[in-house]
Amino acid sequence: MPDETPTMTPEEADSYRDRFLARLAQTVPGRKEIVVARASGCTLWTSDGRRYLDMTSGIGVANVGHCHPRVVAAIQRQAERYAHVNVYGRFAVPEQVELVERLVSAAGPAFETAYLTSSGAESTECALKLARKYTGRPKFVAMARAYHGRTLGALSVSWRDEWRAPFAPLLEEVAFVPFDDLAAAAEAIDERTAAVIVEPIQGEGGIRIPSDGYLPGLRRLCDESGAMLIFDEVQGGMGRSGRWFAHQHWDVTPDIITMAKAVGGGLPLGAVLSRAEVFATFVDPPLSHLTTMGGNPVACAAGIAAFDVIVEEGLLEHATAMGEYLRAELGKVQADLPGLLVDVRGRGLWCAIELSVDANPVAKLLEARGVLVGSVLNNAGTIRVMPPLVITREEIDEFVAVVRAILTDLG
Ligand SMILES: Cc1ncc(COP(=O)(O)O)c(C=O)c1O
Repeated sequence: MPDETPTMTPEEADSYRDRFLARLAQTVPGRKEIVVARASGCTLWTSDGRRYLDMTSGIGVANVGHCHPRVVAAIQRQAERYAHVNVYGRFAVPEQVELVERLVSAAGPAFETAYLTSSGAESTECALKLARKYTGRPKFVAMARAYHGRTLGALSVSWRDEWRAPFAPLLEEVAFVPFDDLAAAAEAIDERTAAVIVEPIQGEGGIRIPSDGYLPGLRRLCDESGAMLIFDEVQGGMGRSGRWFAHQHWDVTPDIITMAKAVGGGLPLGAVLSRAEVFATFVDPPLSHLTTMGGNPVACAAGIAAFDVIVEEGLLEHATAMGEYLRAELGKVQADLPGLLVDVRGRGLWCAIELSVDANPVAKLLEARGVLVGSVLNNAGTIRVMPPLVITREEIDEFVAVVRAILTDLG
């Protein structure tokens, strides 16, 4: 049991709260309650010794749990050897090779090569450029409720006018179509389309799972028109859904996979996977795409360790079993409170509790009872539940008991 004694006085914690608001550019209003002291597995402790059950994994990052000893050891080892020595592409970096070989083996034989980045938005940028350069076409087709990041290119293929309009003009030729609507996609995809970009299961859209024919149908439409198919696995990858990648629940292969979040085992790392022949376009002319920090060796070492933990601890199977248990238990709460808890859905440990009311105040109530959950950006009623894949049955029971208590009070 970790030491739960406070790591700072209440005055010191308050000072950090004030200085955080003053010094860190804010994108969400309001004072921050939690001052983090440490984290381990599915638990996070605050500076005053309070314990929280983390059902967010830092929004899909801590898939192997916080501070997994193997990840910590790998970071320490690599940091002692070298952290960063030159820009991506100049030296052969063994940690990058070891990581990418693991990622392409998990993705399947259609994938040979990866470009390493530092974040999800950066992976989106890389994929959009790759598709444009490879096809020589200008247009993208994206989905309603999609989220691919906040940089200008990623924002151009992300949904919701309120966040797009203030930054116009964005990329010009982007057509948004409803998710899971093949007829609408067929209308939008044409001979000018470089790529269709889609989250196989929508994360910020509310953990939306498409019907079985949808992703294979998009594949067919892309093949017919010569467009590329990009699957954004930034949130859904690295075992979150019980498979390495969410699209592996269906028989479909994209041209490009983007990933980030959990791939670095807690450190900033992203990857874009495709065929070697597609990436060859970035050498013509040389330096067509670049990043200084992408594929940082310490992040790669952490990513290798996290990948191996998923394999050796059987976390894909565990996520599948625990996800089914979680949804079954939440289903019992829904049966008792059907007017308030209107849907429970998900795959693996990627789960939505759909409420008939705004999810944000309910998430606050959960936080006050020691449970961290998230809402999602593009669906007001969804509570997002995505704990570390190492979560135990007992921790799920603890979570469901708190959900039941709070919803019963509200119901
Ligand atoms: C599906 C998806 N793509 C891209 C991103 C952007 O990733 P990042 O925040 O690392 O830029 C996110 C972030 O939540 C995401 O969920």
